[in-house]
Amino acid sequence: MLSSLSKKRILTGLQPSGALHIGNYLGALKPLIDLSNDPENETFLMVADYHALTSVRDGNQLREHTHQIVRDYLAAGVNKDNVTLFRQSENPHHMELSWVFNCLVTVPFLMQAHSYKDKVAKGMDANAGLFTYPMLMAADIVLYDIDFVPVGEDQRQHLEYTREAVTKFHNAYGELFKEPKEVIVKGVGVVPGTDGQKMSKSYKNTIPLFGTREEIQKAVMSIVTDSSGDKPEHVFNIHTIIYRVLGKSQVELDALYHEHTGKYKALKDALVEDIEKVVAPMRERRAAITDDQIRRILMSGAEKARAESALKMTVVRERIGISF
Ligand code: ADP
Ligand code: TRP
Repeated sequence: MLSSLSKKRILTGLQPSGALHIGNYLGALKPLIDLSNDPENETFLMVADYHALTSVRDGNQLREHTHQIVRDYLAAGVNKDNVTLFRQSENPHHMELSWVFNCLVTVPFLMQAHSYKDKVAKGMDANAGLFTYPMLMAADIVLYDIDFVPVGEDQRQHLEYTREAVTKFHNAYGELFKEPKEVIVKGVGVVPGTDGQKMSKSYKNTIPLFGTREEIQKAVMSIVTDSSGDKPEHVFNIHTIIYRVLGKSQVELDALYHEHTGKYKALKDALVEDIEKVVAPMRERRAAITDDQIRRILMSGAEKARAESALKMTVVRERIGISF
């Protein structure tokens, strides 16, 4: 079913584990949307619901987050005609291939994963799913012969792990998979949060993508400022990224900060206005998306995803010796 192999294939996934923030949008979702608008690309966007089980323990909550994230994808500009949008759990090939990879990589190798170590250090449950997470991610990607994976900087190592899983498989069973590359867009690989650290759901330093104007205002007002300087660095850094998204010039931003030297409140107000320019049209689109639309998109996405990976999985089963 890998119909048009001359096209470049793009895939990313996000976990339905909470509300999207502007770091998710700028680091992963927007780059995917931009790539999906190029007719030379074939694009897949996945809801990583099995990955979310590493942290979400409430079925209703997972269902709700899944529904919300699909709505967010569509509101953010994902065009269902250019993108195969599907839930990971609706294609059993992901789990199946991840097990094969788990049997090829070693525990010491997985133990070096920064993401696993960071999450456990932050108090997250060190469950075995979290530990083998990178091998499920590897399966997500290589099942579809993906060339490029738009992600934030924190996922770089996971792409290295994916390539390592591919190499291990090839050494054992012969060539089969493509080696995917990460796409980390300069300037938005690590969008800073309100405390200056990487914006992340788990740091509680986010600016929500689909918050109300009041929620965005509250988050921006909470950006930590250093009273020793004239320029609020964290505000400026986030503003620089938002300016780029709006296609406005850095010179103009520099002038704004120069004009308002020491006036943190005015600069934060200006940042709220600029974030609103990015977010308001999406918020409007979001309100118009119906549950039925979501259901239909997911259903056709699941069918397409299963069909796309079926041939690959048949070859895997044959190579590893479980088909007769
Ligand atoms: P979080 O850290 O908030 O839990 P996720 O792990 O769900 O975010 O990330 C989903 C996607 O968004 C990944 O591709 C990730 O690299 C990207 N991403 C997350 N936070 C940022 C950020 N602050 N800057 C850029 N990209 C980010
Ligand atoms: N690990 C990614 C994250 O935490 C989510 C993810 C799962 C993913 N499978 C993927 C990203 C495949 C890109 C490709 O954000």
